[in-house]
Amino acid sequence: MDAIRVRGARQLKGTIRVGGAKNAALPILCATLLSDGESLLRNVPGLRDIETTAALLRVLGRDVTVSIPEVRVHGPKGTVVPEAPYELVRQMRASVLVLGPLVARYGRAKVSLPGGCQIGARPVDQHLLGLEALGAKITVEHGYILAEAPRLRGAEVAFDLPTVTGTENLMMAASLAKGRTTLVNCAREPEVEELGRVLNKMGARVEGAGTSIIHIHGADELEPFDHAIIADRIEAGTFMAAVGAAGGDILLEHAPLDDLEPVIVKLRRVGVGVEREGEHARVQRLGPLNSADVTTAPHPGFPTDMQAQFMAMMCVAGGRAVMTETVFENRFMHVPELGRMGAHIQTHNNTAVIDGVPRLSGASVMATDLRASASLVIAGLVAEGETIVRRVYHLDRGYEAIEKKLAGAGADVTRVQLESEPA
Ligand code: EPZ
Repeated sequence: MDAIRVRGARQLKGTIRVGGAKNAALPILCATLLSDGESLLRNVPGLRDIETTAALLRVLGRDVTVSIPEVRVHGPKGTVVPEAPYELVRQMRASVLVLGPLVARYGRAKVSLPGGCQIGARPVDQHLLGLEALGAKITVEHGYILAEAPRLRGAEVAFDLPTVTGTENLMMAASLAKGRTTLVNCAREPEVEELGRVLNKMGARVEGAGTSIIHIHGADELEPFDHAIIADRIEAGTFMAAVGAAGGDILLEHAPLDDLEPVIVKLRRVGVGVEREGEHARVQRLGPLNSADVTTAPHPGFPTDMQAQFMAMMCVAGGRAVMTETVFENRFMHVPELGRMGAHIQTHNNTAVIDGVPRLSGASVMATDLRASASLVIAGLVAEGETIVRRVYHLDRGYEAIEKKLAGAGADVTRVQLESEPA
């Protein structure tokens, strides 16, 4: 069983390259279901979630070649059975993103309910309500969603709350619907805007992606595409928090600063310098860390996917930081693990109060979800002694070779094999 061994405390110095955005690549891979022919995705990160999505597309009749950083998807050979099995969907909730494309393209889709995960119940009611508004007949039974519609037709859809994959599912479905669709109260994340660019390349007419209101003029047929994925703002933010915690000075190559405004404001507030250098960013710890309060919110608020990493930094800041998680109901699983390393954190419902300590101490800790894993690696960078982060398969879902990237910037971080996973 793989684990990551971190020996702190060492500052970071050097260059780290930011890869393509996982949460842009996943919906764009699913968008290939909307057309035949060969689509090419560039700047794709080498992640487990990419492999999982490729496996799902193969089950759906596509010929997929993953040669990171490129992925080629070739249109279907023979008949397509538009069904996404539980065995694959349970590995990655984002598999629900095949639902919209399949029912739009094939008039029918059977997709396993994604179910919850460590960070929350993760319902998909908004996805289903939206597809029903476009004319799909939805039934849910035996753990599967069945969506049927001879041809989706454009409609007005108002989301009860901004949902990233819900917005993306409806954008893809509406791109092949007959007529015009208006989506209201959409998620405004950069990855949603990126999907809009790709759908426009395919021949749909998508206006307003990245804002709360998106208009989509459906097409009768869509074309394959060639597209280079935007950089991953959460991976970039994670390395910025690492410099804040461990200290040092790094050049972050291809950092998407425009997509990171809410995080950069807070980083500067606590004493981390972030300066644009062309399409890169120079990130350095400018002095002792201050504390700052953070409340997560849908974009352009502070991203929930950066909450755990920022908390790891606040563990060694001077003073008290109050962090409130408003997006997911159970996203503090990193707190007890950070506590094992000497952090002083108290939680009450969706609020964590962090009282900074002079130093953390290395320990054996367990990753529970993707971003919690990253926060434990960051804590290890600044801790005295050795930290072993177990269950790094969580980390590998969203970070490509994070140990190599950090080691390339002077950290003592390596991947090790544990004999067996302790109970
Ligand atoms: C996307 O998940 C991201 N995943 C998540 O990143 C990210 O944390 C999340 O957006 C929020 O930014 C991908 O893009 C693949 P939501 P998603 O639907 O779309 C509720 C990571 O670490 N909701 O925006 O599943 C939901 O419970 C992952 O990379 C409903 O109630 O999140 C949550 O409270 C983790 N009904 C809120 O909305 C629905 O039908 C936001 O969820 C859908 C969502």
